[in-house]
Amino acid sequence: MSAERKPSRLRLVVLVSGRGSNLQALLDAGGERNFPAEVVAVISDNESASALDRARNVGIEARWVDPAGEDFEERLGREVEAMCPGLICCAGYMRILSSSFVARFSGKIINIHPSLLPSFPGLRAQRKALRAGVRVSGCTVHFIDEGVDTGPIILQAAVPVMPDDDEESLSERILAFEHRLYPLAVRLIAEGKIRLEGNRVFLDKESAWENLDGFIAPKPIIS
Ligand code: GRF
Repeated sequence: MSAERKPSRLRLVVLVSGRGSNLQALLDAGGERNFPAEVVAVISDNESASALDRARNVGIEARWVDPAGEDFEERLGREVEAMCPGLICCAGYMRILSSSFVARFSGKIINIHPSLLPSFPGLRAQRKALRAGVRVSGCTVHFIDEGVDTGPIILQAAVPVMPDDDEESLSERILAFEHRLYPLAVRLIAEGKIRLEGNRVFLDKESAWENLDGFIAPKPIIS
């Protein structure tokens, strides 16, 4: 047996409800040798979510937690805890987490949302952006707090809205950025380059701007 120990990677538990393309981006990133995090389990409230199949296809633990019943979140929390997560990533998870769930995993749950928050929180963010007539929208990775899409912003990517866009075309353009932004945010967290203070997120000096692949960070520097 080799005496050399592999450095441990941040354990990701991903909560999903549907298609799972952001999960796929995290699975793909985790498959890279130098990525500092790995998906260890995928948990869904929807038994037929294709995201569960994406996990099973690559031999990753995939579980359904039946959302029926008042103790749903308690059971969900137990499943999550059993996987010893370093970080919980919501990726198209369609339920609002209660404040007690959020408090239980405080500072360890993140989400990706298809708009430049705080604009257009909630469902159908791309349609709301089109209706508002904005010229730029995008996506946001943020910590989850008790509100709906109100938590501290980690990273954002700006995406143009084209004159002939409909909800589908705009969603597709934003989604391509989501797939790059989510793994990047996870990487920065796994490398300890992100600090959460109250409702603000700070990036360490070297990670600001130059290593961010053109994405927008909320506040470039402090340390
Ligand atoms: C994404 O647009 C994500 O931002 C939003 O829900 C969608 C999920 O898509 N929260 P997928 O299941 O990751 O493909």
